[in-house]
Amino acid sequence: MRVSITQLKEMKQRGEKIVVLTAYDYPTAQMVERAGVPVILVGDSLGNVVLGYESTLPVTMDEMLHHTKAVTRAVKNVLVVGDMPFMSYQVSADEALRNAARFMQEGGAQAVKLEGGAGMCGTVKRIVDAGIPVMGHIGLTPQSIYQLGGFKAQGKTVEAAKQLVADAKALEQAGAFAVVLETIPAELASFISKQISIPSIGIGAGAACDGQVQVVSDILGFFGDFMPKHARRYAHMADYICNAVAQYARDVTAGDFPAAKESIEMPPNVMQAVMEDPA
Ligand code: KIV
Repeated sequence: MRVSITQLKEMKQRGEKIVVLTAYDYPTAQMVERAGVPVILVGDSLGNVVLGYESTLPVTMDEMLHHTKAVTRAVKNVLVVGDMPFMSYQVSADEALRNAARFMQEGGAQAVKLEGGAGMCGTVKRIVDAGIPVMGHIGLTPQSIYQLGGFKAQGKTVEAAKQLVADAKALEQAGAFAVVLETIPAELASFISKQISIPSIGIGAGAACDGQVQVVSDILGFFGDFMPKHARRYAHMADYICNAVAQYARDVTAGDFPAAKESIEMPPNVMQAVMEDPA
């Protein structure tokens, strides 16, 4: 049975932590499901960690749908949340609804996520009213990075902290089923989590959130040289893959690959016949 948004709310009530991880392709999504993670976010972080953009701003609906389809083909029971890219929901609630519907109809996702607080609640309500579950996202919202003045912690003044509390409540009121709290002080995230009945999903927001989300490439060490402060590395895939590729290159260069067991054997009489009469 697929994980439902109702189950996530019940997990919060029972005090059970909700594990969320990003995935962007078929094999990774399969492994994430096999590892028992209940929710996959096909994040627009795709732009940074898969497509090589400098920010999430260039990511398009077509790119998001392409990767969402790969993820949804891979999993049976995981709840898949498609991340709405920059300008797919900001222009009008109508356009937002149409794009959210594309994540469900074409992408096969069960929910969408969008960035923004109280100012985005009209759009959230419009999408929710059409039957599409919406995850909110407040705090450090990477699509507004130039407005925020960089990748800085948010909610560190009285005014900013109060605004985030109000944003989380407004999103709950608008019908969001969960809210991502990104890069805000742990004490504030803890307070917000107690003020709302929907799950808070933290990233760089301390341990008191109802769940945690991480970018899969960060926790698996796909990048040797960069890791955000909020991430913990559980594997060193960049080193592992580089070593394996270098070994392959050494074997080819030395003529050790392929060996007989990696080659196709010809029936002896066939080769004999070809050699005797090649033309
Ligand atoms: O795009 C993404 O991966 C996200 C998470 C970091 C919350 O929005």
